[in-house]
Amino acid sequence: MSTEERPPSPIPAEPVVVPVDAITQLLESFARRVEDLRAADGVAKQIQGLVHDAVGRGALRDALTGRWLGHAVHPVLTDLPIGFWTSAFTLDLIGGRRSRPAAQLLVGLGVLSALPTAASGAADWSDTAGKERRVGLVHAALNTAAIGFFTASWLARRGGRNGRGVLYGLAGSAVATGGGYLGGHMVQRLGLGVDHTTFDQLPTEWTPTLPASEWLDDTPRRVRAGGVDIVVVREGDAWFGLAARCTHAGGPLDEGALRDGCIECPWHGSRFRLRDGSVAQGPAFAPQPVVSVRVRDDIVEVRATSEG
Ligand code: FES
Repeated sequence: MSTEERPPSPIPAEPVVVPVDAITQLLESFARRVEDLRAADGVAKQIQGLVHDAVGRGALRDALTGRWLGHAVHPVLTDLPIGFWTSAFTLDLIGGRRSRPAAQLLVGLGVLSALPTAASGAADWSDTAGKERRVGLVHAALNTAAIGFFTASWLARRGGRNGRGVLYGLAGSAVATGGGYLGGHMVQRLGLGVDHTTFDQLPTEWTPTLPASEWLDDTPRRVRAGGVDIVVVREGDAWFGLAARCTHAGGPLDEGALRDGCIECPWHGSRFRLRDGSVAQGPAFAPQPVVSVRVRDDIVEVRATSEG
């Protein structure tokens, strides 16, 4: 075959370039703008007050925030509406007409499961301030809008207007994705719902602190050992030690009150048992790390109770 007879070689396709950096910057700038949304502070405080009144301090709050689970409940529950709605979207995409009833059911289940999910999120958010509170407010507003869209989607599907129901579902998915991004931002960038003692390295050797005579009975006192703040309590001959920063949001336990064998955080009222650091009352869900305390030659010494 002569050169003239050869078919022209195909033009190499341009590689598809996804503008990852631009997308990242856009999302980052969106989150930062929400963090600085000071105009929302007034309304956020008012809503927080309403949530506090509704949830109170006690069993309902503990149930919503996760004391019984040892983890925050909200991130666990979010899997339900996201899962239902994503499944409905998949059926809309590839399921054909026969799958319409199933898609409608999934959309409805997503709406129902979003209600306890929102309640647990509201309970977590009610103890926030500053940036966390602003981001949480917008996160909640977007997710509430998403619930509205999916409710409209379910109603449209039930009324036989499937195409409109799918469009409402797509709008709900888009808004919920924005809300989900802000949810991740709150946890991973602002530290909401993270055990604030996670990175504490308690001393593994007995470490001297202060003379025992400096402790008054039933008066918490903060000492520093191995680079970590520890609250030490003396009750007669009994000594107790816990990490001083509250697991919930880092509140200073040494400024808290002692009640019924517990120390109560002054910030949001979590109570930790002195004997083992377990949570007697939320909103904290993670136990407080325990420190062993002994007195040698009138000096109080502390050490991690177990290997970290
Ligand atoms: S910081 Fe919230 S209860 Fe301690």
